[in-house]
Amino acid sequence: MDRLKTLMDWFDVRLGVREILRSNLQGYLLPRHVNIWYSLGAVLLALFTLQFLSGILLLVYYLPAADKAFVSVERIMNAVPYGWLIRTLHMVGSNIIVAVLLLHLLSVLFMGAYKKPRELTWLSGFGLFNLSLILCLTGYLLPWSQLSFWATTVATDAAGAVPWIGEGLVTFLRGSPSVGAGTLGRFFALHVVAFPLLFLGLVGFHLFCVRRAGISVPPFGPSARPAGVGTTFQHEVHRDGIPFFPNYTVKELAVVMFVLAGLVAITVFAPALFLPPDALEPADPFTTPDHIKPEWYFLWAYQTLKIFPSKLMGLAAQGGAMTLLALLPFLDRGEERRPFHRPLFLTLYGLGILLLLGLSIWGHRS
Ligand code: HEM
Repeated sequence: MDRLKTLMDWFDVRLGVREILRSNLQGYLLPRHVNIWYSLGAVLLALFTLQFLSGILLLVYYLPAADKAFVSVERIMNAVPYGWLIRTLHMVGSNIIVAVLLLHLLSVLFMGAYKKPRELTWLSGFGLFNLSLILCLTGYLLPWSQLSFWATTVATDAAGAVPWIGEGLVTFLRGSPSVGAGTLGRFFALHVVAFPLLFLGLVGFHLFCVRRAGISVPPFGPSARPAGVGTTFQHEVHRDGIPFFPNYTVKELAVVMFVLAGLVAITVFAPALFLPPDALEPADPFTTPDHIKPEWYFLWAYQTLKIFPSKLMGLAAQGGAMTLLALLPFLDRGEERRPFHRPLFLTLYGLGILLLLGLSIWGHRS
């Protein structure tokens, strides 16, 4: 214990560590009535950490070549000690991450936390959401199974609908006119180096924005009237709030543990939940499977492309909806954040969720 204190003193003299810890842990106050939805950011941090660690371990045995990838994944699953556990955690983890990302996005939307002065927090979060989906898409190809091969063929094919540059864009994404060894090489480089680096930078910026602006007060109850935001920078202080550590950290850890328990439960008791039969066959460019469906979180996009008369119209509808969502803080500029005082927002919010669910179920059944 004395040794630890001496070490701490050594760093403290040089870096003022105790002051940093005091102001960021006990001295950092969060709104008194902060609710469970505010823990989802920490859940995402925990899940992404696990994703990075399991991904690094998978790299030890995975081989990114068209004639070796599938066999190397089979080896990880059947021969490498605990390989099945690491691979299944990585695969199930990606699905849980998308679900938690959606909940985090929907909760900050519902509570109006995207409004001034948190536009940059929202925009960086929206960037993270898209980047996470791209990470899922690029990772999906790596096992080089029938499912990965044909799902990537269908997904990259959609880019061909872009006027003038469509064909060139498809070749650029695939590295050749059709999905092949070159596609695997570039998806591998993007999935394990380029996008994770970009992701880390963006997470850093997102957390900086959250910390700098201060956590928003939950917009519920009679005291939650619009506070009014000035024209100069102001960190939102909560003088009667609860300390980040230990009070809030304990609550947050409980939610993190609950989600991690769910992840482990699926990994151990239902490891094949996200592994349809086509994921167990090696890629065969000459045999198209009967039913190729994307992962559950892309079903809405898949169905949108199918219901419009042309792919271009489908892509335009998706692009339009995503752009509107990204720019929401600049379109919805009223100061009111209480959901039940914003009937138009609440109606659109409910209809949006129903549309997303309806399209996904339709896509699943079609
Ligand atoms: C890798 C993904 C992400 C991570 C690690 C992350 C992390 C966090 C953390 C730790 C917080 C503070 C606590 C909380 O309110 O949960 C936060 C807040 C916030 N996040 Fe995220 N986030 C991610 C993605 C997103 C996405 C997809 C959006 C929306 C498009 C978003 C928008 C926001 C907003 C607006 C806040 C401020 C909430 C407030 O002050 O009340 N984040 N995020």
